[in-house]
Amino acid sequence: MEKLTLNSNLYFGAGSIDALAAFNGKRVAIVTDPIMLKTGIAESAAGLVGCGREAIYDKIEPDPTLEQVAETCKFVESINAEVVVAIGGGSAIDTVKAVVLVLGGKDRKLFFVAIPTTAGTGSEVTNYTVIKDVAAGRKIPIADDRIVPDMAILDYTLTKTVPKTVTAFTGMDVITHALEAYVAEGANAISDAYAEKALRLAFGNLYEAYIHGDSDAARENMMMASYLAGLAFNHAGLGICHSIAHALGAAFKIPHGEANAIALTHVIAFNAGLDVPFGADKSKAALKYAEAARIIGLPAAGTRLSVQYLVREIEDLRNKVGVPRTLMQLGVNAADLRERRAGIIDSVLKDGCTPANPVQPDAGQIGKILDKIMG
Ligand SMILES: NC(=O)c1ccc[n+]([C@@H]2O[C@H](COP(=O)([O-])OP(=O)(O)OC[C@H]3O[C@@H](n4cnc5c(N)ncnc54)[C@H](O)[C@@H]3O)[C@@H](O)[C@H]2O)c1
Ligand SMILES: [Fe+2]
Repeated sequence: MEKLTLNSNLYFGAGSIDALAAFNGKRVAIVTDPIMLKTGIAESAAGLVGCGREAIYDKIEPDPTLEQVAETCKFVESINAEVVVAIGGGSAIDTVKAVVLVLGGKDRKLFFVAIPTTAGTGSEVTNYTVIKDVAAGRKIPIADDRIVPDMAILDYTLTKTVPKTVTAFTGMDVITHALEAYVAEGANAISDAYAEKALRLAFGNLYEAYIHGDSDAARENMMMASYLAGLAFNHAGLGICHSIAHALGAAFKIPHGEANAIALTHVIAFNAGLDVPFGADKSKAALKYAEAARIIGLPAAGTRLSVQYLVREIEDLRNKVGVPRTLMQLGVNAADLRERRAGIIDSVLKDGCTPANPVQPDAGQIGKILDKIMG
């Protein structure tokens, strides 16, 4: 038996941030990062709910930590908020998810509004958050239905100020979500429908959003792709590309989307059995990747060739949006990787995303993927 929960309200389109006006008169906490304060977006949000600067907590840093969650809880409690609005990328939204979990445990009911300002994580619609335990050097994915935002606002105009590198990384994160969900153990007709549309939109618009950051159509389509890919993986699960990105992100401070972009093609080759004679002909995942290749408009071909076309398409796009191909190009030193290798492999095997991968890897197979990623 499967269960599909879709319990959040969605507002979308240019100017949809105005939906915040419904909370005017409530005690509202706005959780964001310093850049959102600089762009003026956080203060206009505060204005819409009838608050001033005192309602804004702007100390969110990329890749939320347990300490950041604790500090944000203190702020939300200090103003006795009834509504908490996360404005920012996955880092702001993920922090508030953890806050909702912690304070919910203390019987504090918070209405949670998520307003993404990147087109990437899909966190505004998922039951999933990733928090870093700095002392243990690990990123911990947590899945819990209580942290799905009660309301999401997809106002693509907020993403027009996203710098090129962040557009590239977050866009590659969208593609990774859609592809991992498409081949995941939990994939079904409903998650496939979300993933397929997300793939069409993301492959069709990421380069344009990267080159012309002020393009309404490209930004809107990427924001929709991000949301749809979030819905897809919320139902189907992710896979070892995310497990590897979590481990590399924690070990070498590589942004989440960039780590995914570097690992993705190697994970596809492994899942599809491209390195094994006749592997791609037998693999269930290979058939799905081949279908994905057709969906994004690559020429029709047999299974193995279609998967190879897909890999090449991702490599081309990654190049065009300026994402490096290997950890070496990123400046990771081989000795550092060697030293951390056993820990990284262990963390990939234990990561919450690994069970959904279509093929269960052993330590040796993860090690081989890491060697390729290193370059
Ligand atoms: N919960 C989920 O479902 C999920 C899925 C994937 C990733 N994640 C997590 O999300 C985090 C990454 O999120 P992200 O990729 O959105 O990046 P982010 O939130 O860390 O933001 C990256 C940078 O972009 C800046 N930025 C964001 N919006 C901007 C805008 N409109 N204009 C100018 N600058 C802007 C931020 O200030 C920051 O410096 C990681 O911690 C990752 O583990 C969560
Ligand atoms: Fe992701």
